[in-house]
Amino acid sequence: MIEIAIDGTAASGKGTLAKKLSLKYKFPYLDTGLMYRMVAYDLIYQKKKYSSNLELESCKTAKKIDFQQSENIQLRSEEIAELASKIASFPDLREILNSQQIEFAKKNKKKYGGCILDGRDIGTKILPNANFKFFINASVEIRAKRRLLEKNISFLHENDEKCMLQSLIIEINKRDVSDVKRKVSPLVPAEDAFIIDTSLIDANELLSIVTNIIEGSSKKSD
Ligand code: CDP
Repeated sequence: MIEIAIDGTAASGKGTLAKKLSLKYKFPYLDTGLMYRMVAYDLIYQKKKYSSNLELESCKTAKKIDFQQSENIQLRSEEIAELASKIASFPDLREILNSQQIEFAKKNKKKYGGCILDGRDIGTKILPNANFKFFINASVEIRAKRRLLEKNISFLHENDEKCMLQSLIIEINKRDVSDVKRKVSPLVPAEDAFIIDTSLIDANELLSIVTNIIEGSSKKSD
């Protein structure tokens, strides 16, 4: 049974890689960042973003959510990402989401022979014995450009585009710093992770590097 753990910085291409691997190997894939985003979204919707006990509210909210994943463009906003990163530092909330992530891995390994999870602490905390661990990074300028392209906005003026790119660079940087510096499950590569910089390669080149590692590896599945 194969576990593939993918971690990395914001907008580094880990989600795209996870989806492509899931299609290639027919293993279910879980975007764990989306779970934090779903909790953040519900907190905003319930007007609890500024609650004096945000940790408690986050936990109550998480317990009510059905984490079946579906693509929802609203979840991808930077406002949601910022709150997701803030609540991701709450240990009690992480415990609730961690157990769902571990359960997902267990269930799908049994049913499909493998699973793929992406996030910040997959190789270090959720799947410490994963067969393959990847840590994906790229320069912040490249990541901001990719995120801007994903938003699919047509700009009337070049200056508006530059302005939006600049604010994305600031937001992504801020989130990386808080993800790296938090005490609980900080964003850090697992010691046995393959670290890949995607600044100069596209999604298909990344897929090919990763599949070469997986298929050329002498690591045995259990
Ligand atoms: O897509 P992007 O890389 O920008 O972010 P994401 O994967 O959707 O994650 C949003 C936020 O959730 C991150 O900035 C982290 O703070 C948090 N997160 C986490 O702490 N642990 C995870 N396993 C996944 C996400």
